[in-house]
Order: sequence, then structure tokens, then C-alpha cells
Amino acid sequence: MRLFTTRRSFLGGVFVAPLLMGAARLSDARGGMDATKSRRPGPYLGAAVRIDQIEADARLAEAVLRDCASLTPEIDMKWDALQPGPGDWRTGPADGLVAFARRHGLEVRGHTLLWDQSTPAWAKARLERAPGDWKIVADYFQTVLGRYGEAVSEWDVVNEPIDSEAPDGLRATVFQKAYGPTYIERALHEARAHAPNARLVLNDYGFDYDNPVEHQRRAAFLRLLEQLKTSGAPLDGVGVQAHLDLSKGPLKREILAPFFTRIADLGLSIAITELDVKEDGRRGGVAERDRKVADHVQAYLDIALDQPSVTGLTTWGLSDRHSWLQKQPLHPSANPTGMNRGLPYDGALEPKPVYWTIQQAVAGAKGPSTLTSR
Ligand code: XIL
Repeated sequence: MRLFTTRRSFLGGVFVAPLLMGAARLSDARGGMDATKSRRPGPYLGAAVRIDQIEADARLAEAVLRDCASLTPEIDMKWDALQPGPGDWRTGPADGLVAFARRHGLEVRGHTLLWDQSTPAWAKARLERAPGDWKIVADYFQTVLGRYGEAVSEWDVVNEPIDSEAPDGLRATVFQKAYGPTYIERALHEARAHAPNARLVLNDYGFDYDNPVEHQRRAAFLRLLEQLKTSGAPLDGVGVQAHLDLSKGPLKREILAPFFTRIADLGLSIAITELDVKEDGRRGGVAERDRKVADHVQAYLDIALDQPSVTGLTTWGLSDRHSWLQKQPLHPSANPTGMNRGLPYDGALEPKPVYWTIQQAVAGAKGPSTLTSR
């Protein structure tokens, strides 16, 4: 098997990557490495990024270095990106991102080990052919955690396990079908075996609003967390994605605060992992639209950052130019040519009101930074 051979080059070691050259240049943008940034008290601020975009755009790189203490690979640490074929490892971009983060003293959130949607077709086929055979997961974890375990402080071990429609609240993923509902617990144990010092996390969406589906999703998630804690699974925290949506109504303290409290009461940390805002109409004046987005995020952070177990906040991208929301289905009333404006910077990398909202909320929050230890 050809381990870690990219199409273009064999990198030989995790931190030896051609992108190091780019990272060296970028360090000048911030006046050198600031290894203490991620260790200040209070929640950290981070963003999902792609190393190819950082390399291609000096203004984006400057923004990353100015704002972020933690980076999440938007795509490059997903299984289908790392291993698109059985013997076909393509670790170049993930290696590059890790090298960049290390060079600048930034934490990395490992996203994500098991996610139905990013499982390559060949692995899905194997899981379907040989249900119950854990070796495929064990081998994958051993390789990926062996390679990045030291560099990654927190892993989304299972992404999006919840389905409000399922009788047991668990999504019928390829892993659920292959191993049954205990696959989550097994995955946590497997991850712990290879990454003894990382925080192990379950990450999911749809916990934010006052509607029947999200009520059920919160309840199912809490049930799962309770079961895992009771059975002694090595779970350290949760990731709350927080893909906010202006069409879903107001954010309510009486809904969100008890949800966070119940997670914290289980002894789990909470990371806000994928914050962004989907606009409804994408119409009208930009100033008014940006104010609505900023006010919505303010309302969310007023509640979330009140909870001391919230360790940090990651936005799903920095600039609207790169936001995955540009490719998501539009609301029926939305202007089809309008760009969604739900991230801190606009398409030209200019900060918007929501940028300052986030900066001020994080600077004013008292929650502890627990990133450096488990
Ligand atoms: C998205 C990326 O942003 C897209 O570029 C990619 O095509 C699909 O995945 N929840 C998650 C993220 O946990 O991994 C997803 O990221 C967005 C939803």
C-alpha cells in the first residue's frame, strides 16, 4: 500500500510540506509567530479554512493570521479528501495546513473522522459488503491519528450523528448500518487509543431554534451524550455547528441556555464550530442586511458565551467569497444572483458589522480556554 503518496510528491513527514515556504512569507504579514495567541484566557476565535485559498490570497492569509487562534480544515481532513481510493493517500493539503498552523502557533481542530457525507465511495462499499468488520475504521483512525494526532488539539470524531426523524434519534449512516448504534462509542474508544491527548468531540447542527424539529434534535443529542457518559465513553466535548438562518425566527435564551447548561452539567466542553448566517431574501440595502446578520450573531453569542463551558468559536470560513452558503439551496424568496453575506468579511475581504460583533463578544467573554489541555 502506498501510504501518504500524493499525486505530486511524497512528503516524507507530516510537517515537511512545500507550503512551508508560503507560510514563512505569511509570517511577515503578522510580524512573526505569536504562539501565545491561543493561550490567552477566554474563548478562542477560529475559522474553517483551505490552505489553497490561504496560499492564493494574501489578504485572506492576513485575515487568518490577524483573527484566528484555531484553524479547522474545511475540506482537507475529510476521509474522501485524505483517501479517495483504498491505497490512494493525498495528505498534501492537510499536511500544508497543519504546517501553516504550527508555524504560526495556531491550534487545529481535526474535522472530521467519521461523517457519512465525506466517506469515500470505496469505503462505503466495503462497509456494506462486510458489515461488522471494524478493521476499516481501525486502520483509518490509526493512520490519520498517527499522522496528525500530535498536531490536532480537538477531533470531531463523529460528525452529524443525529436524525430527529429516526426512532432512536440516530442517523442511519453507513456506520450505523454496518455496526449498529454503538459505532459512536467504539469510534471514541478507537480515537482515544491513537490520540491520548486530544479532546474527543461529537459535532452536529440544528440545535439553535424554537421549532419542533430542533427540539427533537436537541433532545436526541442530549440523550446520546448522557448514554455515552454513562457507559464511560471517552467523550470530552461537543461541537455545536451553529449554522444560523435568518428565516428560522429569533434565537431564544430560554431554549438555548438550558441546552448548553445540560451539556456542561455532563462535564463536557462546548465549541461553537461552524458559525455562519444564511440570509433569507438577499435583497435590499447592504447596510440593512449586514445589520440583521450582526444582530442575529450578537443574540446568539450573548447566550452562548454566557456559558463558561464554551471554549471557543469557529466561523465556517472568513470571507463571503469562500462561503459554502453560496452553493446551498436558496430560500424560495431569495434573490438568485445575490451573494449571501453571513461571514465576518465580505467578498472583497472587508470586515462587516458582524466581524466587530464577534470580536467584541469574544473579547468580553469570560469562559476559560481549555484548548491546551484535555
Ligand atoms: C462543507 C464544506 O464547507 C463544503 O465546501 C463541502 O463541499 C461540504 O462540506 N457541516 C459540516 C461541514 O460539518 O463539514 C460542512 O462543510 C458544512 C456542514
